Parts: sequence; C-alpha cells; structure tokens
Amino acid sequence: MTPAASGHKKDDSRDGLAQIRDVLGARSIVLIGLMGAGKTAVGKRLAARLDLPFVDADSEIEAAAGQTVSEIFAEHGEAYFRQGERKVIKRLLDAGPQVLATGGGAFMNEETRANIEACGISIWLRAELRVLMKRVSRRGNRPLLAGNDPEKVMRRLMAERDPVYAKADIVVDSRDVPHEAIVSAVVDALAEKLGCKVKAPKPPSRKKA
Ligand code: S3P
Repeated sequence: MTPAASGHKKDDSRDGLAQIRDVLGARSIVLIGLMGAGKTAVGKRLAARLDLPFVDADSEIEAAAGQTVSEIFAEHGEAYFRQGERKVIKRLLDAGPQVLATGGGAFMNEETRANIEACGISIWLRAELRVLMKRVSRRGNRPLLAGNDPEKVMRRLMAERDPVYAKADIVVDSRDVPHEAIVSAVVDALAEKLGCKVKAPKPPSRKKA
C-alpha cells in the first residue's frame, strides 16, 4: 500500500471513530459479561481507540472501600459488595462518555441494568467456557472461584447469567484472538448500532497469487 493510500484509510477510520463519539454523546459504553470475558483488557484498548476515558468499576469499588474485592467478600460478604457495586456504577454512569468495564455480576442487578440502559450502550463480551477458563486460571483474585471447583462455578454462572447478559444492546464474541481484534469487532458493532457508516480498518488481506 502506498503511504498516501494508507494515510487516506487512517483518516477514514478516524472520521468513523469521531462519528461514534459524536453519536454517543454523554453515554457510556458499558462492557458486561462473565469473569474472563476480557472486559478490562478489551475495555482499555477500546477506550484508547475511541479516545475516551477508561473506568473499571471493580477498581473504583476497591478505591471507595479501601479494600480489594476479595477482602470485601471475605470481611463483609457478597451482599455488601453488591450494594457497593450498585452505588458505584450508578455514580460512574453520571460521568460519561467513557468506556466502563463492570464486574461479572453487575448486570444481574435490575436497578443497575436500568441505569445502564438509561445512560449507556451495553456490550456483552460473550465467550466460550474454554476461553473463560483459560483466562480466569491465570489469576487467583476472584472470590467466587476461590476454594471452589472453578469450572463448575463458571458453568452455573453461565446458565444463570447468559439469558440476562443477552439483554445487552450489542453482543460481541470474545474469541481467543488478540484483544485488538475484539476491539475492532466492538467498533464495527457500535458503528452499526449507532448508525455510523465507517468500519474499523482491517489488516491488509494477502492476495492469492
Ligand atoms: C464477579 C466478577 C468480578 C468481581 C467479583 C464478582 C462476578 O469481576 O466483580 O469478583 O460476580 O462475576 P470480573 O468479572 O471483572 O472478574
């Protein structure tokens, strides 16, 4: 590709991203889905691509409580954590536009769902059990999995939560590919949902000889 041609493509995609930001207005892009779906990893890169702030709800809950999520679960229990989660997400939604990654259980709360619907566009990062297990097994910071059979818990959570996650505005499959590829799929899905024309640039395809 000539420099001029590649420069032209870049401008196109920049216009497309600006268009998404314009149509989004003050709404937040809210990533939902199970532990290991890639909400934080994809969210950070999506925010960078769209030139929007990135906020992680669990980190905000930890900052507000002065404790880690695991410590909150251990000392105060899950119900207390859920209460804090609901309040923090409500507060964060007032500060859009931004990319907001939520913890896996957040969207299960009816009030939080309504708040997200009112102030944001929800995106379910849907992943297969195999992909989720590969990712969650890398870190031991998830109280719902600690001390339990993680695969059994994840299967149960999928059965309980997938029908609720399916209420999201957009569903994107979070496959076992580099995060940037998922970001491109999210940008395309957002552009389509928001009625923006330009698609995310794809890597140049190799022509067959
Ligand atoms: C939870 C998911 C976690 C965290 C907490 C509970 C859940 O966030 O909020 O451990 O109920 O699925 P991630 O989905 O970011 O791991």
